[in-house]
Amino acid sequence: MTELKLENIDFSYGKNKILNDINLSLSTGVTALLGPNGAGKTTLINIITSLYRPDKGTVYYNEKDIKKLRDRYYDYIGYLPQMPQFYKNFTAYNFLEYIGILKAVKKSELQERIERLLKLVNLSEEKNKKIGAFSGGMRQRLGIAQALLNNPEVLILDEPTAGLDPNERIRFRNIISQIGADKIVIMATHIVSDVECIASRAIFLKNKEAIMVNNISELSGKMSAHVWSVVAQNENEINYYTQKYLVSNIRQTSEKNGYELKIISDIIPSENAVHEQPGLEDAFLYFYGKKD
Ligand SMILES: Nc1ncnc2c1ncn2[C@@H]1O[C@H](COP(=O)(O)OP(=O)(O)OP(=O)(O)O)[C@@H](O)[C@H]1O
Ligand SMILES: [Mg+2]
Repeated sequence: MTELKLENIDFSYGKNKILNDINLSLSTGVTALLGPNGAGKTTLINIITSLYRPDKGTVYYNEKDIKKLRDRYYDYIGYLPQMPQFYKNFTAYNFLEYIGILKAVKKSELQERIERLLKLVNLSEEKNKKIGAFSGGMRQRLGIAQALLNNPEVLILDEPTAGLDPNERIRFRNIISQIGADKIVIMATHIVSDVECIASRAIFLKNKEAIMVNNISELSGKMSAHVWSVVAQNENEINYYTQKYLVSNIRQTSEKNGYELKIISDIIPSENAVHEQPGLEDAFLYFYGKKD
């Protein structure tokens, strides 16, 4: 079974410390890497892909220091950067062929693999079009295909759903769930709903540190004491709650004659409040959006 382990990772840009003593252990399955803009998700990914060297600490791939694996490590990982750059004059097919050669995919396998991946990301019909004429979402899908070209054991995706339309988002989720069955998938995002259905673990980056939730369904247990549902009758009441509390959702209800608010709070927000089933988005708000 594949394992990635980060031990005592520190990283700074100059004097600006971004990551402080990160310790994580990841096995197969989909892990969501969550945190607001600037939290350090891309920085952590750059360390995991070995693009950056940490100031301190070690990344292990199956108990081997990735520094010692050197270029061999790249055979095991597939990576989609946050802002992938493409050669605009290449067609989608030529681009994948080119990346396949760079990744030393066997010539005898390359064509079949490219066709299969194009089909997977729904670009078969566009394979002979120039990338310069692709929409943002089409480029993103091509980026996902290139990350999978070497059949990696570890797939690292930085904001992979940015720019995908709702249909492609669903397709993407299904693809990633399948891949996560026997590979390590790490996916940075702040679109929480994207990962809620497929991630089995989440890493929350906060204050330079990583909080690991090994079992997303376990979150329910941890969060359930803090998630409430209250009914507001009018806008004044809604304003009262949104000013005083973290509100993760507002929904009009016909049966209760008003609005149902989902509130994240350590204390009961109203005497009529009842506990509500928490989701990943609620945990995200709880960790990051705390009202002082
Ligand atoms: N090359 C760099 N030089 C100096 N500081 C940087 C550099 N890259 C990132 N930073 C800083 O490091 C912090 C973390 O950035 P990072 O890009 O890792 O965040 P992120 O969680 O990926 O954010 P986003 O959600 O916007 O992608 C930010 O404060 C950012 O300004
Ligand atoms: Mg980023």
